[in-house]
Amino acid sequence: MSSPKREFLFKVLIVGDLGVGKTSIIQRYVHNIYSHCYRATIGVDFALKILNWDKDTVVRLQLWDIAGQERFGHMPRLYYREAAGAFVVCDLGRTVTLQSVERWKDDLDSKVILKNGKPIPIFLLGNKSDLPPYGTRIQNVEGLGRELEFTDCYMTSAKDNVNIDKAMLCLIKEMIANL
Ligand code: GTP
Ligand code: MG
Repeated sequence: MSSPKREFLFKVLIVGDLGVGKTSIIQRYVHNIYSHCYRATIGVDFALKILNWDKDTVVRLQLWDIAGQERFGHMPRLYYREAAGAFVVCDLGRTVTLQSVERWKDDLDSKVILKNGKPIPIFLLGNKSDLPPYGTRIQNVEGLGRELEFTDCYMTSAKDNVNIDKAMLCLIKEMIANL
């Protein structure tokens, strides 16, 4: 008889301005689908991804897709409670979304902390990397990643499925290391 598997459950937050592609990134990662249509998320949506991490371990990711418009209200602390990791997403095509990155990062840092007192791993994603060449903008995002002490930073495309699996994998490794 095989021994029971270990299960890790992680709550992961995805935040960032309106229309940067948070829902698209999650849809690509969980269902491998992409749509050009934009339907703003209201409040918060949830998605679950289950991974066979290794032969004895199952990872369950509870992805909290938080509406960009929440920035204009008071983000309920409830959304952030017990999160193990987070993504801040910006849109490489819109500078204004890069300017908001600091605010989203500060918001996470002030509201979530691990039980051991350490900050949660937070990754910065510069999304829509499939659009015209964004040389300087990519450098700006990488600069923000270092300056604001993100755990790591990736340029992603939900449309072309670039770097999404990789960023998720790295976040999971960080979250497991924090257990
Ligand atoms: P809110 O729910 O309002 O906070 O927005 P969101 O961050 O969830 O954005 P959403 O995923 O709905 O995407 C907004 C628009 O950008 C949609 O029209 C998507 O098709 C488009 N989009 C998302 N990701 C990409 C991408 O990687 N490349 C391109 N070219 N477009 C994208
Ligand atoms: Mg959305």
